[in-house]
Amino acid sequence: MNPILEKIIQLTKELNYLNYLYYKKDLNEISDQAFDFKLKELEKLEHDHPSFIQPDSPTLRVGGFVSKKFETVIHQFPMLSLSNTYSKQDLIDFDERVRKILDSNDFEYVCELKFDGLAISITYEQGRLLRAVTRGDGVKGDDITANVKTIKSIPLALFGQNWPHKFEVRGEIFLPLKSFDEINKKRLENKEPLLANPRNAASGTMKMQDSAVVAQRNMDCYIYGLLSDSNISNSHYESLNLMENWGFNISNTYSKCSNIEAVMMYIETWSKNRFNLPLETDGVVIKVNDLRSQDELGFTSKFPRWAIAFKFESESVQTRLKEISYQVGRTGAITPVANLEPISLAGTIVKRASLHNANEIVRLNLHENDLVALEKGGEIIPKVTHVYIEERRAAALPIKYIDECPECKTTLVRIDGEANHYCPNERGCPPQVLGRIAHFISRNALNIDSLGIKTVQGLIQKKLVKDVSDLYHLTFNQLNGLIFETTEENKTRSLQKKSAENIISAIEQSKGVSFELVLFGLGIRYVGKTVAEKLAQHFYTLDLIKDASFEELISVDEIGETIAKSVKDFFSQEGNLEMIARLQASGIKLTLDQPSGENYGNKLSGLTLVVSGVFLKYDRVSIKAMIKQHKGKITSSISSKTDYLVAGDNMGPAKKEKALNLGVPILTETEFLYLIEE
Ligand code: IVH
Repeated sequence: MNPILEKIIQLTKELNYLNYLYYKKDLNEISDQAFDFKLKELEKLEHDHPSFIQPDSPTLRVGGFVSKKFETVIHQFPMLSLSNTYSKQDLIDFDERVRKILDSNDFEYVCELKFDGLAISITYEQGRLLRAVTRGDGVKGDDITANVKTIKSIPLALFGQNWPHKFEVRGEIFLPLKSFDEINKKRLENKEPLLANPRNAASGTMKMQDSAVVAQRNMDCYIYGLLSDSNISNSHYESLNLMENWGFNISNTYSKCSNIEAVMMYIETWSKNRFNLPLETDGVVIKVNDLRSQDELGFTSKFPRWAIAFKFESESVQTRLKEISYQVGRTGAITPVANLEPISLAGTIVKRASLHNANEIVRLNLHENDLVALEKGGEIIPKVTHVYIEERRAAALPIKYIDECPECKTTLVRIDGEANHYCPNERGCPPQVLGRIAHFISRNALNIDSLGIKTVQGLIQKKLVKDVSDLYHLTFNQLNGLIFETTEENKTRSLQKKSAENIISAIEQSKGVSFELVLFGLGIRYVGKTVAEKLAQHFYTLDLIKDASFEELISVDEIGETIAKSVKDFFSQEGNLEMIARLQASGIKLTLDQPSGENYGNKLSGLTLVVSGVFLKYDRVSIKAMIKQHKGKITSSISSKTDYLVAGDNMGPAKKEKALNLGVPILTETEFLYLIEE
């Protein structure tokens, strides 16, 4: 065997084993540093010899595979759901049915928790992970293998022995509560919309196109089912043990129960203890243990007859609606808020709950002064989940949504297909003007921290500032001694010399802030920090983003039609174009920084390259970064000046044809890597 291939195989095996010991057995055989060293060694060998990469390589765990669309796969064994109940009587009835069909009292159940995440089916062949598919409609689902491979507790290669040649495991992918909280904390700081709950976050994450982003989210997975053509075990309990020995992550919360009374005790225990687990659970799954008995019980048209799910009640309290208020965000979006009689829920006093939009008010059929149910699930913000119509006062009128902006009285608009109402008076509606500037100067964006919100209000009042570009034209003389009224009654403030100096210097310093953050700071609707980074890395300059077509925008990873439309809309408004022209003159960064540090040489100096399609080893952003590092120039469309087209899979046929017509050489990923190699 080729010695390099041999080394790659050996490192792959060794690292997978160390990974297994670490994640499954909590054993640190070697230091993190030594592990990383071996991983880097493998990465380097794989980079130089991409054809030797093993399908179970641990380097795949860091992701980097970008797909535009997931392939649909038909499940070999359909993915059914479970019949659900909240009633203990239903469990007793279930037990009686099972006894009757089996004609026996002598059987066992296995109780497990019902994990709240995304169901997954993973196929293994010859001990290696072959494919991972979502539940979809139960008959067919999406192939999300590249994303699933980033989850460290899912084995890429199995341990032990005696596994069938080909089999499937079923499990639940979840976002651990700790990771969920961390992500939302960051999002709060970045003023990005919060993830609603861990379950949605798990399924949203696993359907992302860029597996490198998935890899950063620390997803996890519990396996709870084994399916195979061959008979490898006699009971579900035995299957769980087998899978554990092969390296699968089985939650240690399962238990054998010899009768329905023991099942009830399991439910009792876990309805309290479940809050100490690293994930959300929403019930208990009760399964007949013996596999032959399972066969005998069979299935109804929808569910197995050998299992049932008992669901936990989520904590809910009742309170009365006092009134609805409406908030205007910096993008003009109106959010209705329910103001409630204060009530204690899950340890906090709740006075307000977001109602999201007009649809939600219609869905709840909310009337004045209604008695409502409030719940706090995985969500941070409590939710109105139910209206007690029977408790409604006779004269109560339905809530009528406002049609004028509560702040500037402009008639609200609602774009077709969107749930939110908007105030279109972007430049004249005070909370929008103030909100945009506040966002721009915030710590997460341009970080102009000496400028407080009250001062910004004063600057708007004195007509010194109407948008963010005006900040860069303020002078010390304008600020020094400036007197303005604050919103608190009859109070005036004046800016002292020191404050004026600090503000001018912080504004000056903000000229060093990177382009990605400036773009984020502009507050384009749907352009959060991550999207801003993607756009900046793809287009490099604000001018190129401004001039990009809708098609070019949606060709960027993670940019869908809604974001593209919003970006186009932003750059089509005269007021925004004027503001950008003034920003361009201000000296802030409107171009991506050149990569610095290491000297990569100038292999691509003087060459112009176009990058298109989906790549196997690196994602498109990395390919572009490499071009920059080697001093090449990137453009988005092919012309006679293009020296090379670096082409991945799924490249648009028009682009390819244009390259062929103009005689532009087309490079595969490997050829490109070869080109920049020493
Ligand atoms: S067994 C034939 N066990 O619940 C169905 N499902 O309604 C076999 N789930 O989408 C499913 N934890 O993703 C089973 N311990 C567990 C589970 C579990 C969560 C989910 C599963 C499925 C849904 C069934």
